[in-house]
Amino acid sequence: MADELSIRNLHVQVEGKEILKGLDLIVRHGEVHAIMGPNGSGKSTLANTLAGHPKYVVTDGEILYKGESVLAWKPDERARRGIFLAFQYPMAIPGVTVANFLRTALNARRKAVGSNGAAKAVSIPEFRKLMLQRMEMLKLDPTFAARYLNDGFSGGEKKRVEILQMAVLNPEMAILDETDSGLDIDALRIVSEGVNALRGPQLGVLLITHYQRILNYIKPDFVHVLVNGKFAISGGPELALQLEEKGYDWLKEISPEEMGTGK
Ligand SMILES: Nc1ncnc2c1ncn2[C@@H]1O[C@H](COP(=O)(O)OP(=O)(O)OP(=O)(O)O)[C@@H](O)[C@H]1O
Ligand SMILES: [Mg+2]
Repeated sequence: MADELSIRNLHVQVEGKEILKGLDLIVRHGEVHAIMGPNGSGKSTLANTLAGHPKYVVTDGEILYKGESVLAWKPDERARRGIFLAFQYPMAIPGVTVANFLRTALNARRKAVGSNGAAKAVSIPEFRKLMLQRMEMLKLDPTFAARYLNDGFSGGEKKRVEILQMAVLNPEMAILDETDSGLDIDALRIVSEGVNALRGPQLGVLLITHYQRILNYIKPDFVHVLVNGKFAISGGPELALQLEEKGYDWLKEISPEEMGTGK
């Protein structure tokens, strides 16, 4: 079976400036990889590039999802096929309710999963049951279903609703960009438990974070540190603890030869 996600020598430019400078990363089915690194090092650039944001131009390298190149796929096709991005800064969509948004997205995804687009659309009762069950899991008040997406939501509510989307859409490659930032202590635990409930052999996760704390709840298989557009070091969960203690400066002093080798 092909790896869930395979990134090779990825170079990405934004507005003509090179931000990612040769990334290699393999996520196998069922693995959780944490990505840490200083502000501006390129973490969200990687997330947006994987989701297919048009501003992020791949100038070299390859991104394979289940063995197929995604580079020619538009963002909606990537999403339908199971690549999911929880945004660092979720946008409000006034006029579109949470329920309508989720149902439309779920139907699009079901069509893609079903053979030659023949899968049946989810019925409204079936959808409501699924949505309410997932809301309960994330301790989200059911009244959120009728509210406009992210419109007037608190920072923490937005992050919870991002994970609600994940829980309803059932992706196979989930990229969570600082989902923990802005969550209070209880919400962090609830959201983490939600992600853990979705963990399984079909789901690969890229968990972007600044803080070791979420990794106490969502145990990563690997931790990678992005510095200035390249992975400076990779390791196990203990690396996150080391970073908490030592910061990032020692990594900036690693020689260029050692950079990106994962040693
Ligand atoms: N759309 C854009 N237009 C211009 N510059 C951009 C754009 N997106 C990213 N950049 C630049 O790319 C660099 C990397 O940004 P990115 O958002 O990927 O960092 P990050 O690692 O996610 O940081 P943070 O931890 O603060 O979220 C920054 O210097 C940023 O200003
Ligand atoms: Mg970011």
